[in-house]
Amino acid sequence: MCGIYGYIGEKSVDEVMKGIKRLEYRGYDSAGIAFQNRERLCEDENTKNGENITLIKNKGEISNLEKIVLNKNLKSNVAIGHTRWATHGEPSIKNSHPHFSGDGKWAIVHNGIIENYLELKQELQTQTESDTDTEIVARLLEKYFNGDVLSTIKNVCHKLKGSYAFAIITSHSPDKIFVAKHGSPVVVGYGKSYGVVCSDINSIKGENIYVLENDQYAIIEKGKINIFDKNLVAIDVGKLGAVKKVERSKLGDYSHYMLKEIDEIPSAIRRTLKEYENIEALEKILPKEKFKKFKNILIIACGTAYHAGLVGKRLFEEEGIYCESEIASEFRYKPFIERRKTLAIFVSQSGETADTIGALKLCKQHGLKTLAITNVRNSSITFEADYCIYTNAGSEIGVASTKAYNCQLVIFYILSKYFNYFKTGDEKAYYDEIKNLKNIARLIKKNDIKSKCGYIAQKIYKSKSIYMIGRGLDYFIAAEAALKLKEISYIHCESYPAGELKHGTISLIDKNTYVFAFVTQEKIKDKTFSNINEVVAREGKIILFSQFDNSNKKVCEEIKVPLVKERYYPLFIINYLQLISYYTALLLGNNPDKPRSLAKSVTVE
Ligand code: F6R
Repeated sequence: MCGIYGYIGEKSVDEVMKGIKRLEYRGYDSAGIAFQNRERLCEDENTKNGENITLIKNKGEISNLEKIVLNKNLKSNVAIGHTRWATHGEPSIKNSHPHFSGDGKWAIVHNGIIENYLELKQELQTQTESDTDTEIVARLLEKYFNGDVLSTIKNVCHKLKGSYAFAIITSHSPDKIFVAKHGSPVVVGYGKSYGVVCSDINSIKGENIYVLENDQYAIIEKGKINIFDKNLVAIDVGKLGAVKKVERSKLGDYSHYMLKEIDEIPSAIRRTLKEYENIEALEKILPKEKFKKFKNILIIACGTAYHAGLVGKRLFEEEGIYCESEIASEFRYKPFIERRKTLAIFVSQSGETADTIGALKLCKQHGLKTLAITNVRNSSITFEADYCIYTNAGSEIGVASTKAYNCQLVIFYILSKYFNYFKTGDEKAYYDEIKNLKNIARLIKKNDIKSKCGYIAQKIYKSKSIYMIGRGLDYFIAAEAALKLKEISYIHCESYPAGELKHGTISLIDKNTYVFAFVTQEKIKDKTFSNINEVVAREGKIILFSQFDNSNKKVCEEIKVPLVKERYYPLFIINYLQLISYYTALLLGNNPDKPRSLAKSVTVE
């Protein structure tokens, strides 16, 4: 989703261009930059001058913006940039950020959504140039300017409903970037000769990095930052404690992050296990005395993380623990049922997903204890949750989640055994689980499936519609597999519980339809094989993933998967589907790292 990068110091325009390129992986459809500039540049549809500030923006890839910016050989010491993922108004030059105030004395970039912007627009009684909520904020700053920039920003922020991270430059106070935060992530930092602001801890470059909390403000200057609380009382930055910078992975010899990240799955699993391989390590984070009182579990997440939660639910159920699993954006708006002795678990790779965090806050308001499972240290969710465990998958840049999903599953395997240990006092089951998971990581590494997956991609890539079926854990594999395939191939793909197909959806199956079937659970395999026969009877083309011998010779393709304990198949088989999705996207000429319309971090509701 949208990204902010601002820089004060030499070559600020170049630094901001590099910064917004690092934000590219989060998804965007236009980009722009504003910088302090005493010269007036020649104006056109991309370039506009304000008062000692110039804006340059363009639609589409950052390279489109780069072409204009690099030609101009711009020199400035203060710049802010933005990558926009359209919410209010189509992707266009006029709607991309930064936005000017009417007098051109303020330029602003914004992540988040101002919910009451139409009301505020009426209050302003002025024409705007764009359709965005953000321009309204720029115009409010102009209208309510009281001689002091920071207090004006605070007063305007108090009028806003919704979420925001703002970076603002103004000719009233050049040589500074002003930052405000409410609900959308933003980090600030400085070194001897520069100051920097960024919406993504993975993408900031610099030393002395601080994560702003809600309703804090910052003034960034060359060589220093000042942070203020909601009443503009200065906070002693020395006492805040700078956060450790996250090392961002490099593409190396790979052509895409997605493939690199799939290849990293075994090492990512090992890293996840390493932190928790001693039960005492987990006990330090999740104290046994507090956790053993939880009798029920509620798992909440979105997208792929929700699918990991579905597997988690089943794993807890296997230990006899009642567990619900909910989609965050649904859970937030349904009647809240009060629950006792319930631990609410929130799964989020980015730790920034607005609906997941919203659901977490709701559960807290109702007195539930909350545990976040996330991949990103110092992400917003880590400040909101009572407890936090990390997946340690390493930075995930490809928009389609791969290794982070596998690591989320690993955490659920471990947690289910940790809860079992409260009931039985049996540590052995916990350590066996760690051993088994290490073996699975080894097996994934050894399992040379790329050419097989490329071959399946060749078969399916011209399809109009694909179905994925399974029962129990196999259905959860199907759910994640279908999401992966559709999000990067743009082929319509649906997952179904195998037994549910005949209640309607089977009418869509014909001789042109591929149906991926997952059959790994002994207890229900015969039932799924019957459902497969029903598909074959309608001339549907089955691609079967199973460790069992298949008496039904009519399947179109059969992938015999290595024998592992049944509970580990969701962790193991998804590797095939991640690769098949990747190769299918390539065959269709799509960039799997940046699927259309998608963002890596979904910070709007
Ligand atoms: C799909 C995918 C998304 C995310 C979802 C939640 O590949 O990545 O479905 O899983 O947007 O994101 P996080 O896990 O960051 O909360």
